[in-house]
Amino acid sequence: TVLKSVLYKVHWCYSSQDRSCGPSTWKDTVSTCGGQNQSPVDLDRQNMQRNKSLGRFTFRGYNIVPPGKWKVVNNGHAVQVNVEGNTIMGYINISGAGLPNTFRALQFHFHWGNATQNGSEHTLDKEQYPMELHIVHINAKYNKIIDAKKDPNGLAVLGFFYQNNDASNSNYNTIVASLKNVSYKGDEVDLASTFRLDSLLPPVQKLSRYYRYRGSLTTPDCKEAVIWTVFEEPIQISQSQYNEFVNTVFFSARGETEMRMQNNFRPPLPLNKRKVYASKDASMSASSSLHFSLAVLSLTVLIDIFI
Ligand SMILES: *[C@@H]1O[C@H](CO)[C@@H](O)[C@H](O)[C@H]1NC(C)=O
Ligand SMILES: *[C@@H]1O[C@H](CO)[C@@H](O)[C@H](O)[C@H]1NC(C)=O
Ligand SMILES: *[C@@H]1O[C@H](CO)[C@@H](O)[C@H](O)[C@H]1NC(C)=O
Ligand SMILES: *[C@@H]1O[C@H](CO)[C@@H](O)[C@H](O)[C@H]1NC(C)=O
Ligand SMILES: *[C@@H]1O[C@H](CO)[C@@H](O)[C@H](O)[C@H]1NC(C)=O
Ligand SMILES: [Zn+2]
Repeated sequence: TVLKSVLYKVHWCYSSQDRSCGPSTWKDTVSTCGGQNQSPVDLDRQNMQRNKSLGRFTFRGYNIVPPGKWKVVNNGHAVQVNVEGNTIMGYINISGAGLPNTFRALQFHFHWGNATQNGSEHTLDKEQYPMELHIVHINAKYNKIIDAKKDPNGLAVLGFFYQNNDASNSNYNTIVASLKNVSYKGDEVDLASTFRLDSLLPPVQKLSRYYRYRGSLTTPDCKEAVIWTVFEEPIQISQSQYNEFVNTVFFSARGETEMRMQNNFRPPLPLNKRKVYASKDASMSASSSLHFSLAVLSLTVLIDIFI
C-alpha cells in the first residue's frame, strides 16, 4: 500500500540514472522538494544541541517473529520490505525517545552506493557511509499515509548507517537472498520468512545514542512530515553482502536496457533554521561543548570588563 501511495506520476530519478531528472531537478516538478526543511542533512557534531529528555526508545514488536508475510518490492528507486499488510496492523511500533505519540512501522528500505562511492543519505561530520536503512513509521493517530504527510508529526523514520567489514552478518541472509528475486523494477516477492526486526539493528544498548531533527521524505513528494532519528552506531555487514545490493538489482524494468540500481541516495540539504539535537547518550564532538564554554568564558570576561 505504501508503494501505491506513491501517486506521483512525475518522472524523477537519481543522477546515476540520468542527470536531467536527478535530485537537483526534483524541485522543478515537485515544489515541496525545494522547501526549507528537507532531508537528508549533514549531522555536524560541532553544531548540535544536547537534549537530555531524548532518552531510550520503547520498541514494541521488534523482538517477535511476526506471523504472516513480508513483501519485498523493487519500486525502481530502492528495495523495500512492507511489514504491514499481512502482519497484524500496528504490532510493530515505537514510542518514547521524545516522540509525541506511538508510531507504527510500515516499511523499511535501503539506500546504497557503488563499488567506489558510499551511498548513505545522511552524513555524520560530513562522512558518508556505504549504506543507510530507513524504517518508516506512521503516527498511530493516522490510518493513511496521505493524511500523515500533512502533519509535521505524521511520520517517524529511523535511519541507520552501515559499515562494511569482513564478517558476514547472518541476520541479513533472508534479505540478501531475496534480492535476486526482485532484480527488476516492479518485481515483488514474499520473503521466505519474517524475522525479528531488531535482528537487523545494532545491539539494543547502543540505540540510546542518536540524533534528532525535523525533516522530510528523501524522495518526491519530499513532504516535510518526518521526525528523523539517525543512530550513531552503524550496522555491520560484510563487503560481499554490500556487493549483493550493488550488483543484483536494477533501476530498470524487465526488458528495458539494464541499469544497475546504484547510488540511490539524495545528497544532504541545508539545515537552514533547524537544529539537530543529540540524545542524552549520543556523542558530540569535544569542540561542541568547547565552543559553549568559550562563549560562557567570553561572556564572563565581558561582564568583568563592564562591571
Ligand atoms: C504496539 O504494539 C503492541 C504489540 O507489539 C500492541 O500491543 C500495541 O497495541 C501497539 N500499539 C499501537 C498504538 O498500535
Ligand atoms: C527536547 O526534547 C523534548 C522531547 O522531544 C522537547 O519537548 C523539548 O522541546 C526539547 N528541548 C529543546 C530545547 O528543544
Ligand atoms: C561510482 O559512482 C561514482 C559517482 O557517480 C562514479 O564516479 C564512479 O565511477 C562509480 N564507480 C563505479 C565502479 O561504478
Ligand atoms: C566510506 O565508508 C567507509 C566505511 O565507513 C569509510 O571508511 C570511508 O572513509 C568512506 N569513504 C568516503 C569516501 O567517504
Ligand atoms: C527466488 O529465486 C530463486 C531462483 O533464483 C528461487 O529458487 C526461489 O524459490 C525464489 N524465492 C522466492 C521466495 O520466490
Ligand atoms: Zn529512504
